[in-house]
Amino acid sequence: MARVLVVGGGGREHALSSLISESPGVDEVLCAPGNAGIAAVARCLPVGADEEDGILDAARSSRADLVVVGPEAPLCAGLADRLRAAGVPTFGPSALAARLEGSKSWAKELMRKSGIPTAPFSVHTDLPSVERALRSRAPGPVVVKADGLAAGKGVRVCDDVDEAILAARELMSGAFGEAGRTLLVEDRLFGEEVSFHVLCDGERVLPLDPAQDHKRLEDGDRGPNTGGMGAYAPAPVVDAAMRARILREIAEPTVRAMRDERAPFTGALFIGLMIVDGRPMVLEYNVRFGDPETQALVMRLEGDFAGALRASAQGDLSRTDLRVRPGAALCVVLAAEGYPATVRRGDPIEGLDRAAAMEDVAVFHAGTKRDREGRVVTAGGRVLGVAARGSCVTDAAERAYRAAGEIRFTGKRARSDIGRRAIDRERAR
Ligand code: AMP
Ligand code: GLY
Repeated sequence: MARVLVVGGGGREHALSSLISESPGVDEVLCAPGNAGIAAVARCLPVGADEEDGILDAARSSRADLVVVGPEAPLCAGLADRLRAAGVPTFGPSALAARLEGSKSWAKELMRKSGIPTAPFSVHTDLPSVERALRSRAPGPVVVKADGLAAGKGVRVCDDVDEAILAARELMSGAFGEAGRTLLVEDRLFGEEVSFHVLCDGERVLPLDPAQDHKRLEDGDRGPNTGGMGAYAPAPVVDAAMRARILREIAEPTVRAMRDERAPFTGALFIGLMIVDGRPMVLEYNVRFGDPETQALVMRLEGDFAGALRASAQGDLSRTDLRVRPGAALCVVLAAEGYPATVRRGDPIEGLDRAAAMEDVAVFHAGTKRDREGRVVTAGGRVLGVAARGSCVTDAAERAYRAAGEIRFTGKRARSDIGRRAIDRERAR
């Protein structure tokens, strides 16, 4: 396999591009559009991830042997279908299969039909119906969700019905466009969250490491929601028995159900789980790799990664040699001042090389670019993901934080407690 085109330009795509570039038989990685860090491992093309025609042209003219699509929006819009129709092997689901993320109500109906454990829910297409449903509930916590893609902003976890009614009004106000036309009301689950990734080939599932993300901006899971301030794997709440149960009760039935829907799922399926009193329940599906989970996951993968992605694209994961190394991995996100609202941009970043040279450390760029003088500067909310592997989560965290400390830019902010749950458990052992 000579040439791989990666679609996207964030930390996830940097992590994917790096591992693909190290895979046997890969001569060149291209990335559309990429970023300043990805440019060290791939040839970046000035084509946005949502420019379907441009991606198609790039795949054809570069004679890409495989296209790997990072973000969900182009998948939901049908990019993988168009690439495959043009004869380009593509890692990522069809638009029909991407409904698992693109329509939460569709995904919930699928779970209901297939007996996959998830919170009880109802679906509404007008505000009076949502309000009636909310008012007729027992008082207490409830979740309101926009049906469609809302860039991670369409879910409101509410403490009571009044808060939920306000949330529903906002989601249906038109600010979320098409995504907010249909709303879901569901029971709020309490427990520990896990990001469970599997590679799928339409039939089989190949589990990666269970990971945990840290969505809130501040230590102790306080402050506003973000795209993710850090992640680590493995998540200790998923022991071998839990992992087997997730595969048996959730991952495998999902892939079977998709096949029965005539929308076989290929690509990365990221199952967002809540472990409720020892029972795994689905919060949501994502039809792509998580960000920043991927930055941690790739640190522990060994074997032919590009080969596994191609095997998934071609419908036969049975002979891949992808393995997870022992130990743990952890990624700390360095964000810009103001994140997750409007952020400072254009600040020069120092210490990148020193951090990246540390043993078992990788620095993945998310929002960076080169300025006119060729300096790497901040260019987004999440700027960098500093990832490390170690013998345990405590060890990986020490390395990642030491490396993150080498990196300086004005307004830099990071959580200091990534991996806390696992570190506390390791200390108690
Ligand atoms: P998103 O990734 O934007 O779909 O947001 C999903 C997040 O909302 C999850 O990671 C959970 O933290 C939270 N969430 C979604 N559904 C529920 C639920 N039923 N109970 C509790 N939290 C939920
Ligand atoms: N880390 C959560 C996500 O990628 O959606």
